[in-house]
Amino acid sequence: MDKRYYVTTPIYYVNDIPHIGHAYTTVAADILSRRNRLIGNEVFLLTGTDEHGQKVEKAAKGKGRSPKDHADLMVENFRQLWQKLEISGHGFIRTTDPEHIKTVQGLLQLLWDRGEIEKRQYAGWYCTPDERFWTEKDLVEGKCPDCGRQVDQIQEENYFFLMSKYQKRLISLITENRSYIMPETRRNEVLGFLNNNDLGDLCISRPKQRLAWGIPLPFDDNFVTYVWFDALVNYFSATRYLTPHAEQAGHGDFWWPASLHIVGKDILTTHAVYWSTMLMALDMPLPGTIFAHGWWTVEGKKMSKSVGNVVDPQTLAATYGADAFRYFLFREVPFGLDGDFSEEALVHRINTDLANDLGNLLSRFLTMAEKYNAGVIDFQGEAPAAVMRATTELTEVSRTVISELLGDPYWESLRFNIILERLWDIVRAANNYIAQTEPWKLAKNDPEAVHCILQNIWSALRVTALQVCPFMPETAEKMWKQLGLNSLTREVHENNHAAMESQKIFSWEWRPAYAVKVAKGEQLFPRIEKTTERIKKMVKETPPAGEAAETASPAVNTTAPAEQTNLISIQDVIKVELKVGLVISAERVKKSDKLIKMQVDTGELRQIVAGIGKAYTPEDLVNRKIVVVANLQPAKLMGVESQGMLLAATGADGVPIIITPEKDVEQGARIK
Ligand code: ME8
Repeated sequence: MDKRYYVTTPIYYVNDIPHIGHAYTTVAADILSRRNRLIGNEVFLLTGTDEHGQKVEKAAKGKGRSPKDHADLMVENFRQLWQKLEISGHGFIRTTDPEHIKTVQGLLQLLWDRGEIEKRQYAGWYCTPDERFWTEKDLVEGKCPDCGRQVDQIQEENYFFLMSKYQKRLISLITENRSYIMPETRRNEVLGFLNNNDLGDLCISRPKQRLAWGIPLPFDDNFVTYVWFDALVNYFSATRYLTPHAEQAGHGDFWWPASLHIVGKDILTTHAVYWSTMLMALDMPLPGTIFAHGWWTVEGKKMSKSVGNVVDPQTLAATYGADAFRYFLFREVPFGLDGDFSEEALVHRINTDLANDLGNLLSRFLTMAEKYNAGVIDFQGEAPAAVMRATTELTEVSRTVISELLGDPYWESLRFNIILERLWDIVRAANNYIAQTEPWKLAKNDPEAVHCILQNIWSALRVTALQVCPFMPETAEKMWKQLGLNSLTREVHENNHAAMESQKIFSWEWRPAYAVKVAKGEQLFPRIEKTTERIKKMVKETPPAGEAAETASPAVNTTAPAEQTNLISIQDVIKVELKVGLVISAERVKKSDKLIKMQVDTGELRQIVAGIGKAYTPEDLVNRKIVVVANLQPAKLMGVESQGMLLAATGADGVPIIITPEKDVEQGARIK
């Protein structure tokens, strides 16, 4: 097995503010990096910025800055975003780095000396925004075929890389190596293009008088390199100075070639054709795979500054958390296909997969572990009869998923959504396991069975935390610690476990050498109430205070309340112990259409029966925060004990409306 894993993202133009598309590619690279570290590989992730060219030159001029000063400022947007999105241990290359410039010039000189570059008279149609030449037949209705904007005819001398002579070799490479271009559909597109068109030679220069902001050709100072020759070389030049142990002799050759270039489908041709043929001409090894992912639209529309629908990943990460955003991106859409973003879809994923399925499982488990076994997880041996069947079911599902994920086909084909789907099979199976075994019923008479249940849910959560770690590193770490384990990062990443040890850690049976005592921490994913959206809208529609005063409004009843005869003293109020409770599970009481029986975590687990069954279903209640009278004498309702009372308002027609804290607050919190 190759112990070295080098993954790259495109280098992004500095004239853009980073958006969801940039975040997508870079988080994908980070997920793969983290996964590879987890299985014991030495990893290098390269991202960075593309800083030369006309657009940057123009934008800088508009702001009265030098292009380099402008780039220095813009680059920070990317650096900050990568920090917010938890992009780990990466190299950041800038095409203005002196080391990169030196490498580009060195390679150009080599190609020039070998006769792979020629000077020619050139006439073509030039698209300034895309910085790209087109031939007459490429144009669509006289406009740029890529962006639809106006093109200008230009005649000048330029330098050309003799790309055409590599056409045949490129076709055989892609035909013989099925994983060179992925996914399959994109590979077929590139092959179709190469089989049906004559590859031209590639113009790689611009006269300096037309573009000063570029890398000068080492053999002709009147020209600078064309943007792609500068940009693509970044992947190689980084291995000369940014890779780990860069100071050691020969380290660069250890890191080249890259294992994987991840790009958006927009720049697949430049990578699959230009970059591959450049490397062939240089006699350099080719990358393992070039993977082209799809594009995000926003609520069905192409993202664009003029439409004003550019999705800012920084705001999303700040609002919903980086982990939830990362999860959404890779669970929602198969990597390789186009996807559509909407905040509603993101909130839906958070509430269902993250809050309901995963967060709820952890919180139910911790409450029960603390209540039934003082947080200690120490069961060993055969599952007792009462829980044998359910236990076998859970372990079978989990073991199958673990072996599928270790077998690598999903990881190798970058099927992130399937990986997450399969992991959630474990999460759902564990939730089911609780529902089936009903540990609260076994607690009194069969403590062994309860300990066995706790051990198995612990294992399910541990395996999930470990496998989900590349996607949601912060969540995994929180889970790991709440499960009573030492830091996941320290255990697996920094120590860079040997592959064997990592394999062991993935297995269902793995336990640390130390005693495990779980510790309840903060809730992983508080539910996002849908009303927030509505409230936001209402706030927008409410006129500002000054205007409101002038708007005629219905008369408000200002009469003092009628004199009351049932007043109580503050001492009476203090006697009532009100607490916030989290509904862990809920079911209807048999033969009653009104009563619902809930297991509620109010700092301790208690059973509450409430007459709300006509207004709410059990599913409505699970994972909700409610208000509970905690020191009420237990009472039996239709023979079922209730250890407290839930507070609800009486709505129209006497319909109960549950009281919920206005903001999220930890269960067990006192209400005063
Ligand atoms: O092309 N959906 O830089 P760039 C998904 N500098 N991904 C998207 C996207 C969208 N709507 N929009 C952009 C360049 N991307 C060159 C690259 S590489 C040697 C030089 C992502 O700032 C996607 O990865 O335009 C795409 O390839 C990249 O951003 C382009 O970034």
